Amino acid sequence: MGGLMARDDTMHDDSQYESKSQACEAADDIPKNPDTGHSIGAVIARRYSRRDMLKGSLGVTAATVLFGADALIAGRARAEALTSAAFKEIAGGVDERHHVAEGYTAEALLRWGDPLFPDMAPFDPRKLTAEEQARRFGYNNDYVAFFPIGNAGDRGLLCVNHEYVDPEAMFPGIKRVSRTNFSEITEAHAAVEMAAHGVTVAEIMREGERWRPVLEGKSNRRITASTPMTFDGPAAGHARLKTSADPSGLRVLGTLNNCAGGHTPWGTYLTAEENFHGYFWTDAPKDKPTDAGSEAKSYARNRIPSNWYSWGRYDPRFNIDKERNEPNRFGWIVEIDPSDPTSTPVKHTALGRFSHEGAECLINKDGRVVLYSGDDARFEYVYRFVSRDRYREGDRAHNMRLFSEGTLSVARYNDDGTTDWLPLVFGEGPLTPENGFHSQADVVIDARIASDLLKATPMDRPEDVEPNRRTGKVYVMLTNNDRRKADQKNAANPRAENDFGHIIEMTPPDNDHAAARFAWDLLLACGDPTVAEVGARWNPATTADGWFSSPDNCAFDADGRLWVSTDQGSSWPKTGKADGLYAIDTEGAERGRSRLFFRGPIGAEICGPTFTPDGETLFLAVQHPGTDGARAWKPFGRPSTFDDPSTRWPDFDPNMPPRPTVLAIRRKGGGRIAS
Ligand code: FEO
Ligand code: CA
Ligand code: CA
Repeated sequence: MGGLMARDDTMHDDSQYESKSQACEAADDIPKNPDTGHSIGAVIARRYSRRDMLKGSLGVTAATVLFGADALIAGRARAEALTSAAFKEIAGGVDERHHVAEGYTAEALLRWGDPLFPDMAPFDPRKLTAEEQARRFGYNNDYVAFFPIGNAGDRGLLCVNHEYVDPEAMFPGIKRVSRTNFSEITEAHAAVEMAAHGVTVAEIMREGERWRPVLEGKSNRRITASTPMTFDGPAAGHARLKTSADPSGLRVLGTLNNCAGGHTPWGTYLTAEENFHGYFWTDAPKDKPTDAGSEAKSYARNRIPSNWYSWGRYDPRFNIDKERNEPNRFGWIVEIDPSDPTSTPVKHTALGRFSHEGAECLINKDGRVVLYSGDDARFEYVYRFVSRDRYREGDRAHNMRLFSEGTLSVARYNDDGTTDWLPLVFGEGPLTPENGFHSQADVVIDARIASDLLKATPMDRPEDVEPNRRTGKVYVMLTNNDRRKADQKNAANPRAENDFGHIIEMTPPDNDHAAARFAWDLLLACGDPTVAEVGARWNPATTADGWFSSPDNCAFDADGRLWVSTDQGSSWPKTGKADGLYAIDTEGAERGRSRLFFRGPIGAEICGPTFTPDGETLFLAVQHPGTDGARAWKPFGRPSTFDDPSTRWPDFDPNMPPRPTVLAIRRKGGGRIAS
């Protein structure tokens, strides 16, 4: 098609979808990665017998074989102190409420629409304006980070991002929104949608057992799809980032579709732009798409435009017929200083542009900062960034430049249990002008195309990637991939039609996160362990309530134990379980044992688990309650809307629709969670 976009591939009629989130899930139905079949061939059976898979036993780990026992002793010594999580597991299932383990309380802390500043009226969703929404807690809370104020454990800044909106659950009277029918969405609706995206910074305090927002907090702030931000790194100021509104290529408005993120040792919040392509619009008819010129290949690889939202009808920057480069200004990691409400967020282009999910980092033993991130779409990749400069204790201005320069790499998972980190560096290997790369700016803007050329391993939708700072091991949530064919299996993605997902554990040699080669192992293969065809792999002690599907966000508690929250979307009927939060042992005899601690109401995914440093509070984000798969839930059996929702969680007020909400979970009477 020459310079024309393959519009058929990026837009489909989604009128069959029940909700925006369901449409989002399906957005990557068509693999854009052109090289999904090169994979390394040998299947998991070469490393694990089927019997081992079913029993969940592994014997000697790949890391021990590869690096020798000595290199791993430091990690093991740290790991030995880990004890199994202690709480009474709850029962799986689906209903209109949340459920938490006995002896714990789960209180709503911040709900969509809650005021963030003094002298604001109580929330009335029927009177919501964009100006109001920009001063209230946003929609669809995802990643949560807590930055303590003082040492008493009773005060801090909570940062929460707002991934996307469900118009039919947000606005009264909306019956059905799809990517081909926006007739019910007005310009005023679109403005509210833009204001409901972004990030909330809210001061919170604890009085006794209850946390509450501090409306007078000096740091309270809303960041939206319209907040001014800057770029740094190799693509800052590049021609491909310049638009009619910003001829400098250095300034951009807003952040979009922020999913699992990260927090830094210097107290900043990292938010990751995931499905940015969905916000870009074309008016061009299907048979006569807009000429994307030199961006055609990049657009096609990134599924731009996708017309998920109508914003491009009202704001030309989201209309690619009018503003070709605006999409290049999204898909980045954004660093925000929550302590200064006047600070300008920075999009760090050195970290690459893709559907970022997760941005957790650590200080490597040599002082450089290492950040991990997944690209959440079917057959996309896992990435790592290593800073050029070293962390300086107490020098915040210096540390906030650490993501400005360094080396971005992409992972190749070999079937011998090694991971090779392949540097994405202009001029090296195939990243040359002959292949369309003229600078490092091109490499980071088209990180996916660069990674294709380097033969990275296409994965089963990499979600959160999180280092356990206590053991030095890194965990990759691979949520699912129902499009993987039998001939596309490889050791790190061992199942075709992977409906349930898996978790990979990576071990750097001698705890060096900048090393070129890691070891990797399968921690879990999700799904029902009693159905042999599923090929699940759990510790045999895992109960019928404890196994799960579709790992998404994860966190480590104060004791270094792994907690995983799930997002099955509308495919929850495949397990019959609502999404939940599970505690998982990663070491010792109970390695691979999972226990259900919390489950959400019908239609919700669970996000953002994060613990306070004292281990006594767990913040949990319940996203899009009432929406996903409501039709399949027998007691309801129809699409869920504002006027007719499948649940009115968490308020159960007949005048209030379901509301995305951050919960604060504590042990009754205090004490560390799960200890
Ligand atoms: Fe927004 Fe990949 O979950
Ligand atoms: Ca996610
Ligand atoms: Ca998700």
